[in-house]
Amino acid sequence: MKGIVLAGGSGTRLYPLTLAISKQILPIFDKPMLYYPLSILMRAGIRDILMISTPRDLPVFEALLGDGGEFGVNFSYAVQAAPKGLAEAFIIGREFIGDDSVAMILGDNLYFGDGLTDLCRAAADRDDGASVFAYQVEDPQRYGVVSFDPCTGKAIRIVEKPQFPESDWAVTGLYFYNNDVVRIAAGITPSERGELEITAVNNAYLERGLLQVAQLGRGYAWLDTGTHESLHDAASFVRTIEHRQGMQIACLEEIGLEMGWLDPDRARTRAAMLGNTRYASYLHRRIRDLVS
Ligand code: TTP
Repeated sequence: MKGIVLAGGSGTRLYPLTLAISKQILPIFDKPMLYYPLSILMRAGIRDILMISTPRDLPVFEALLGDGGEFGVNFSYAVQAAPKGLAEAFIIGREFIGDDSVAMILGDNLYFGDGLTDLCRAAADRDDGASVFAYQVEDPQRYGVVSFDPCTGKAIRIVEKPQFPESDWAVTGLYFYNNDVVRIAAGITPSERGELEITAVNNAYLERGLLQVAQLGRGYAWLDTGTHESLHDAASFVRTIEHRQGMQIACLEEIGLEMGWLDPDRARTRAAMLGNTRYASYLHRRIRDLVS
């Protein structure tokens, strides 16, 4: 399975922060925002990852992440010329995806919760159809909203940014698709707001009876970081958990080591390069724990 991190967009709700740099480079406490969605793909077992961003921001992503060797993965890069919608990722990424299945995560989404990795691996292992996740939110009208059949619990329909939502279950920014997504995305037409909507792709699977919608319950956190308030909330959340547990969320070198993808010597060099930081001392500690 291939992975895509979609990290373009305009970030207008974060102005003036994002007038000159990408939202997804901004810090969530102690690391760039992008690390969090990347950690989810890596934990799901995905090693070949395409980063998509704007012509302005892509060079910064490349400077930050390189070819992925520091984490034991392979990064490729592609430009989205204008924010024409989430589903455009599968048109831009068509050659990268090839004949594979693909997972996509939005560059400003942060997930946390025990069991998430298992859920993602199960979704990645499915070879037919698509899997998405739904999460209860206070402001469903900002999202794609999914309604469930009260008897069977199955998803009935997804409506993009409804004025009067039928439920408070939002479809989150993490999607697993079989290879049909390339053809489906190429066939959809732009919505009234001029975007190739991911909801149109999800509904195409739903109509064929091939969309699995897993509800993430109260034990999970799903934060998006598109506003000043939510950016601050996400940083506080990460700081609280990391300080309390003495563990890092989204330490990509640690994940590379755990997956058996990253050579311990390379991780040691990396930790030394990261200097006198909590992140580096954590990495030193994890190398000692994992390589005995
Ligand atoms: P949004 O938060 O909907 O949009 P935005 O990031 O442009 O921000 P704003 O509304 O403040 O102007 O996007 C969600 C994520 O998807 C975010 O990580 C950017 C990304 N995105 C793209 O990469 N390409 C796109 O065409 C769109 C619509 C979003």
